[in-house]
Amino acid sequence: MIDIVVLPGDGIGPEVTGEAVKCLHLMSDERDLGLQFQEYDFGGIAIDRHGEPLPQATLGACQESDAVLLGAVGGDKWDDAKVRPEAGLLAIRKELGLFANLRPSRVYRGLEHASPLRADISQDADVLVVRELTGGIYFGERETAPTHASDLCSYSVEEIERIAHVAFRHARHRRRKVTSVDKANVLATSKLWRQTVTRIAEDYPDIELDHMYVDACAMMLVTNPRRFDVILTENLFGDILSDELSVIGGSIGLLGSASVGSGGPGMFEPVHGSAPQIAGLDIANPSGAISSAALMLEELGLPECATILTAALEHTLADGARTADLGGNATCSEFGERVRENLRVQLARNDAHLELLATNRGCCG
Ligand code: NAD
Ligand code: IPM
Ligand code: MN
Repeated sequence: MIDIVVLPGDGIGPEVTGEAVKCLHLMSDERDLGLQFQEYDFGGIAIDRHGEPLPQATLGACQESDAVLLGAVGGDKWDDAKVRPEAGLLAIRKELGLFANLRPSRVYRGLEHASPLRADISQDADVLVVRELTGGIYFGERETAPTHASDLCSYSVEEIERIAHVAFRHARHRRRKVTSVDKANVLATSKLWRQTVTRIAEDYPDIELDHMYVDACAMMLVTNPRRFDVILTENLFGDILSDELSVIGGSIGLLGSASVGSGGPGMFEPVHGSAPQIAGLDIANPSGAISSAALMLEELGLPECATILTAALEHTLADGARTADLGGNATCSEFGERVRENLRVQLARNDAHLELLATNRGCCG
């Protein structure tokens, strides 16, 4: 059995995660994967029900699980809460040791014109943001006084080394290029970042490394996104740049992510937030949640299932199914159903392919 903890969270979180879980159920039944799902309260809903965004029961279940599938947290309702839902998100990342957040983004077939960028700029863009997730300004000491506030940004060499290794290792399976993004012309943490990444690069002579300031990178992402393969960057810059990157493919609703660390359960979540304005309307795009589910299958050691689920999503988009964020009128649940129809087709095609291989092996030795 593979135990998956599902944290639907707030806003559109339950809607998009629901569609992803239905895809995983189908995959599990057809391939006998033994996936088991258990839902727990997390985020704003957990504040309402238990008085805190990350109750001990939720954290304990995640720690015991094989993987965590998360929707999104937050919303106006909790903006003035003593502990906000977002604090629960930072806490769970820290508690599970998820220091590496992988955010892949590319232009899907059929969506070449969905981007606000000209198609000749966006086409064939394919970028992986490797975002450091448990350090930097998100986790530094904070001070709040009536006339003063401060957030400390700090990084240790070890924190930079381990995320750099993740980026270089991923580049080996891609186009072998890492762009390390920092603000080394100003920040002490960025100077250490640049020095450390340069040193770690010596272990990876087959990978090309360049460095870029974050302001220039923000510009270059929308003028020449094809120049990037893997972007390696700190927590805050990675947050901002990955939202910017999402528009290249057409919508933030398309992007999934994997948060992983040193061997325990990973957490898989769309890049977008809880989108409170469209919550409950069944119009959100579940693609980011479904991509996150595919990343989860990959991480669970089921790469073939991950490929099949990704292919089902790609076919659905290529066939023209579109939720409102991409100018269409498919509802969230209709889009999810179309993905599952394509998933059945992909699974059958894969079965036929395997049968053919077996027959050929049988007849030809
Ligand atoms: P957001 O990502 O929720 O929304 C930004 C815009 O994108 C909105 O116009 C929204 O309607 C649209 N959008 C987002 N996801 C979509 C989807 N799947 N389909 C269609 N449209 C989609 O960001 P925000 O408005 O800045 O934040 C809202 C809340 O979510 C805040 O409380 C924020 O802190 C939280 N948040 C949570 C996470 C997370 O849980 N991982 C991530 C980002 C923001
Ligand atoms: C994300 C979100 C979170 C972050 C917030 C909600 C804490 O924006 O996952 O991208 O900044 O990491
Ligand atoms: Mn973000």
